[in-house]
Amino acid sequence: MKKQVTVSAPGKLMLLGEHAVVYNRPCIVTAVGQRLSVTLEIISEKRLELEAEDVGVTGYSKSLTDLGLGDISKGAKFVEMAVKNFNEKYKINSGIRIKTKSEFSSQFGFGSSSASTVCVIKGLAVIFDIKLSNKDIFNLAYQTVLDIQGKGSGFDVAAAIYGGTLYFVTGGKVIEPIEIKELPLVVGYTGIKADTVTLIQAVAEKASRHPDLIDSIYMHIGKMVEATKVAFMAKTLPVVGELMNFDQGMLEALGVGSAKLSAMIYAARDAGAWGAKLSGAGIGDCMIALTPTNKVVDVEEAITRSGGQVIKVQTNVEGVRVEK
Ligand code: MEV
Repeated sequence: MKKQVTVSAPGKLMLLGEHAVVYNRPCIVTAVGQRLSVTLEIISEKRLELEAEDVGVTGYSKSLTDLGLGDISKGAKFVEMAVKNFNEKYKINSGIRIKTKSEFSSQFGFGSSSASTVCVIKGLAVIFDIKLSNKDIFNLAYQTVLDIQGKGSGFDVAAAIYGGTLYFVTGGKVIEPIEIKELPLVVGYTGIKADTVTLIQAVAEKASRHPDLIDSIYMHIGKMVEATKVAFMAKTLPVVGELMNFDQGMLEALGVGSAKLSAMIYAARDAGAWGAKLSGAGIGDCMIALTPTNKVVDVEEAITRSGGQVIKVQTNVEGVRVEK
């Protein structure tokens, strides 16, 4: 048994399939180079102690028997529930000090909550010498996210664990790597934080008024995802871009577009991107533009001019790993 371990996991960006993937359709997600890291250390008192400065949590301390009970601050929720669920399943019954540190802002929608959940579970497994497969980690981390959010497909959890670029179906029914060499994305942040749970709910309300229409939109999004997988295998990035544009139209129909996102998306397309769309829950967070190398600077400038903040990311990066 180790006394201390540091584990890191990547953030994620949804390429295609958001919202439909909550309802048994596939999506494609890529892991991004900014990572979140978690250091775990065994302590003698049977408590969880947490420092997560990036999300405003300092000096947080709770007895193991109280985990999940009472008021839980927003920034502590995912770590606390991950420790609780791990302890219930693997009976570690030991105190633990956890420190999280992120290379990216929790405002971007890169999935910091899922990445921290994954790091905590992987870290506990390493420190207590419990052999877990990636799928075991996925199941426990996804359960933790559902315990807190109630809804969600788990695609962000899968990206944090497996890394690379994945074809993913709701709840991890399928998690398949897509072998790609390059994925030249320009990313623009709107400056607005998207609330995923509220937006899933807003789409669900629309679906209750127009069930057949919304279901056929999900079906079309699913087809676009399948076509994108084929285009990736054929290495035809312009086709991927075209499919991203189709998908953006579907997301507009679902009502999760916004004027700010559209301004950035059209600016990117006009400046030479193969395709551009929102990424994630919508309204805010980020947009992505698949862009030929010789147009990257033009697209970045266009996004900035339209009021967005360009965020440099590496795509298709390694999943969760032990750092030391
Ligand atoms: C949010 O980033 C993407 C959604 O599809 C939710 C999910 O898949 O969990 C809206």
